[in-house]
Amino acid sequence: MAFNLFPRSDAGSPPSPACSSPSSDIDTPATGRSVLFDGSLNASLDNLHNQYILVTGGLGFIGSHTSLELLKSGYNVIIIDDLSNSFQTVFDRVRLLAQRYHQTQGTECPTLQLHDIDYRNIPALCTLLDNHKITSSWDSTERSSIIGVIHFAAFKAVEESIRQPLKYYSNNVSGLIDFTATLGTYGIKNFIFSSSATVYGTIANRGVPLKEEHCVHRPETFPGTNEMVEQGCTGITNPYGRTKWMCEAILADLAFSDPEWTIVALRYFNPIGCDESGLLGEDPKGVPTNLLPVVVKVMTGQYEQLSMFGTDWDTPDGTAVRDFIHVSDLARGHIAALATATKGELRENFRTFNLGTGDGNSVSDVVEAMETVSQRPIPTKAVGRREGDVGSCVAMAGRGQAELKWKTEKTLRDACKDIVNFLRVREEEEEQSLQRQGQGQRVPLAVAEVSS
Ligand code: UD1
Repeated sequence: MAFNLFPRSDAGSPPSPACSSPSSDIDTPATGRSVLFDGSLNASLDNLHNQYILVTGGLGFIGSHTSLELLKSGYNVIIIDDLSNSFQTVFDRVRLLAQRYHQTQGTECPTLQLHDIDYRNIPALCTLLDNHKITSSWDSTERSSIIGVIHFAAFKAVEESIRQPLKYYSNNVSGLIDFTATLGTYGIKNFIFSSSATVYGTIANRGVPLKEEHCVHRPETFPGTNEMVEQGCTGITNPYGRTKWMCEAILADLAFSDPEWTIVALRYFNPIGCDESGLLGEDPKGVPTNLLPVVVKVMTGQYEQLSMFGTDWDTPDGTAVRDFIHVSDLARGHIAALATATKGELRENFRTFNLGTGDGNSVSDVVEAMETVSQRPIPTKAVGRREGDVGSCVAMAGRGQAELKWKTEKTLRDACKDIVNFLRVREEEEEQSLQRQGQGQRVPLAVAEVSS
């Protein structure tokens, strides 16, 4: 049986991008590479129920933690990552941590693959998807062994998006359209999308915790009131934020057009921290702009001080307040969303969820917590507000708790402790590498440390 693209629609459907080159390559050409690393203990496609989760951007900060949680939960994982903002060594670390976990549990470690391709490289994607077609032995129908997709791959630097908007619209929005259209042709229709609290725009400035109903894609009644909320967005301040909102709107339309799709958009608040092993962490290529990576640069002496953007916000200490969520909690939120979606238990076939703690902490709180945990001073300097910032952005976390049966477990202090541990591990590795080089051994640092 062949899978049909957009089976219920005829007129007005876009041409299938399947297995042809993507048309949208403005300033962000797709790579031609397609190198497969298979990090499985048992590379057979037949083990562990022969079911896979495809993760784009699976070696990034959130992607790597989610891939690890997927493996711990027993899912086979296929990562697509073009390494544009990540490192291949992260793959070895995810695999190592998953193997360690399953060894302690006495369970079999699922398979993990890495495809070093741009997710917009449709021919390479089709080759991968073709390799995961399976035919039922009893009625000869064809389906995919990929039962769900978690889509992280996207550009995310706010500043850059203002300077190069087409780069963002091309990768984040056009890329998503071609990607989902291709998945649809293979009948892969469980989709988890990496969205952001940025979709709430300046609603965050109202000073109330943000509910999913503050930004909707179909008219809804706001809970507890008779107020109608119209679809649309309010005061999104930059192209990056608009790409997230546009992607949500496109996915909502797709789900509405075809009930076979099950789509979850997860709106992240401020992910921080790292896996408690210290082997995975936030390690962006280029100049960091998010708070914790900058704090780390100060702690490690690479920056003299932290510029605190705005100390005159309408908040208890004047610095901006955010809902900082530990990345491992965030990663588990994806597992909960995936499980709910694949079991067919979502309330609607397009559903948004805040992934936040429901509690706010200020920039000053973060600095204090990090100083306490690390026992290192973090010099700060008050400077003016950063363009596009909001004073407060905190989630109402009830929907995820009620419908995904998921809640956060870790605190700001846990996140700081894990970051300090990550830095300690990295320092030790660097020292060992220097010693090895001194002995004339030329062994790449991370691979040497973590390969099994
Ligand atoms: C940013 C993005 C948001 C994205 C999120 C997660 C902006 C405007 N928004 O959110 O779209 O989804 O990251 O990646 O960038 N701060 C300092 N000094 C610094 C860095 C940050 O004071 O050197 C402050 C910021 O002004 C802000 C808070 O720390 O008040 C958090 O900043 P950041 O980590 O960049 O996250 P958001 O701005 O909340």
